[in-house]
Amino acid sequence: MKDFANKTAFITGGASGIGLGIATALLEAGARVVIADIEAAHLAEAKATLAGHGGAAHFIPLDVRDREAMHRAAQETVQVFGHVHILCNNAGTGLAVPIEDAGYEDWDLILSVNLGGTINGIVAFLPGMKAHGEGGHIVNTSSMAGIIPCPSWAGLYSTTKFAIRGLSETLRLSLAPVNIGVSTLCPGMVDTRIMTAERRLRPEGHSPDTDEWPQKMEFAMKPREVGERVLEGIRRQSAFIFTHGYFREEVAELFAEILAEFPPSSEPCAEEKAIEDARRRDIAKRKAMLANPAAPA
Ligand SMILES: NC(=O)c1ccc[n+]([C@@H]2O[C@H](COP(=O)([O-])OP(=O)(O)OC[C@H]3O[C@@H](n4cnc5c(N)ncnc54)[C@H](O)[C@@H]3O)[C@@H](O)[C@H]2O)c1
Repeated sequence: MKDFANKTAFITGGASGIGLGIATALLEAGARVVIADIEAAHLAEAKATLAGHGGAAHFIPLDVRDREAMHRAAQETVQVFGHVHILCNNAGTGLAVPIEDAGYEDWDLILSVNLGGTINGIVAFLPGMKAHGEGGHIVNTSSMAGIIPCPSWAGLYSTTKFAIRGLSETLRLSLAPVNIGVSTLCPGMVDTRIMTAERRLRPEGHSPDTDEWPQKMEFAMKPREVGERVLEGIRRQSAFIFTHGYFREEVAELFAEILAEFPPSSEPCAEEKAIEDARRRDIAKRKAMLANPAAPA
């Protein structure tokens, strides 16, 4: 997708931080944007911030964990703006419980918002995006914590973000024939409300403050800049949208460590070779489709 004018986007967690940055960039590029968020106060603030865009921005209160509400939001989006072209599964929370101490409630909460919300968005919106045949793009917000290992207190978060990356990479190849791109958004630190998100989702019993991470991140990249990178990533059909170049060497180091752990080269048997060759041919075919979409949206 090269042109965003008159395209329709749906963004979860769109009323604050990165979601709002993506919404603003899309609106300025001429798209119509539905902003869905669980927090009434964030929605009211975003409505005021985006007032200049008039009817091009529409707001829906939504908890991404609520599957029926997600389907209703999909219907409302189509009723208000027509076919959906861009889906940003972006709503997310942190949860600063050390991974070794986490209980079922902790795991259920973060998996249901970060991973469950992404899955719910895909199940509710993708059939319509495929059916209209105009092509489109899905951006799933992962993190650098979905690429490189994290400290113990970010382990639950990291688990969800690795899962979002796995989901997105497979979905990307699966959707290549129908001209719907998929990008995994992997920001580094961005100046948002993420560090206080858990307090809002569970006012009682949230994790204690950690000295290892600041509650505010005014020093970090601004969400609007992330929004611009997301638009560029959609235009380029990028598998990954990275925002912070300084992680490059750490990622190279990690992949070198992984490669170093492989046993010496060995020949697959004929049966294995046939299966693996077929898989590689299929992936190559799908990558070629992504590089040369039949009908550019
Ligand atoms: N800020 C960072 O440094 C950073 C880095 C990497 C990835 N991320 C990811 O970016 C995404 C956006 O976070 P952010 O940093 O902009 O934080 P944020 O808290 O400013 O914005 C997230 C928005 O999601 C909403 N939300 C939370 N739970 C929800 C739910 N169940 N249903 C609907 N909306 C919900 C919140 O109300 C909030 O408005 C998250 O997935 C986060 O994990 C953030």
